Amino acid sequence: MTGSQAVAPALAVAGIEKRFDGFRALGPVSFTVADAGVHAFIGPNGAGKTTLFNCLTGRLRPTAGAVRLGGRDITAMAPHRRVHHGLARSFQITNLFPNLTVHENARLAAQALSPRAFDLWRDRARLAQVTARADELLERLALTARAQTVAGLLSHGEQRRLEIAMALAGQPQVLLLDEPTSGMGIDDIDTMTRLIEALGRTMAVVLIEHNIRLVMRISRSITVLYRGAILRQGLPAEIAADPQVKAAYLGTAA
Ligand SMILES: Nc1ncnc2c1ncn2[C@@H]1O[C@H](COP(=O)(O)OP(=O)(O)OP(=O)(O)O)[C@@H](O)[C@H]1O
Ligand SMILES: [Mg+2]
Repeated sequence: MTGSQAVAPALAVAGIEKRFDGFRALGPVSFTVADAGVHAFIGPNGAGKTTLFNCLTGRLRPTAGAVRLGGRDITAMAPHRRVHHGLARSFQITNLFPNLTVHENARLAAQALSPRAFDLWRDRARLAQVTARADELLERLALTARAQTVAGLLSHGEQRRLEIAMALAGQPQVLLLDEPTSGMGIDDIDTMTRLIEALGRTMAVVLIEHNIRLVMRISRSITVLYRGAILRQGLPAEIAADPQVKAAYLGTAA
């Protein structure tokens, strides 16, 4: 055969299951995520969305099943190593240094995730590289105008954008976002929506989000979790029209 060679999906989840003692919080679930676009996971409270994310990031070890990132089995890989293999999850706001500027925060992330450790004082070329990378990260998350502001003085929405900027420092192929708009006002939600959509043009964004309007607007595909299982998977229009999905949200699905 010439030409086309099968390329592994950005993320492939096969039969993962997570039990807490006897209780099965998740699975078994299987799905794949293509290498670009926003792929949303929705579902009522307790459906297993965060448990799924924790199995993807390595914070939780699944009871069964496998997780592959770009074809590589990462099921048992430590969380920090997954980051170096192209899987990113936004840092918590508590990971920001509130007394440093936005640019300094971005620079620290770029430095920490640059391919090898380096001596800040001797390697001026790499220092310039890290600074340029920080500029680029802030540009992507619409924070350039805030670069010299102390991070602790940013609005809640801006802080969440900075977390994502920092998560992108390692040039991930897959970005996981768990409720990135929670606690935000309408203007910040709108900005975040546009930025997530833009990120989806160059990487796979796996998004957990309760804001259904947002999900419908920017997702390439939607997976509905219900009681730990996949209830439906499809295009936004298919999900919106699905009677079982509506019933799950109203609490009447079997
Ligand atoms: N560490 C744990 N120990 C025991 N049970 C847990 C644990 N973590 C989650 N669960 C249970 O697993 C189920 C799924 O929880 P999970 O947090 O994944 O739901 P979710 O879809 O993220 O919900 P939400 O929309 O409220 O964030 C729930 O019944 C929850 O109580
Ligand atoms: Mg959750």
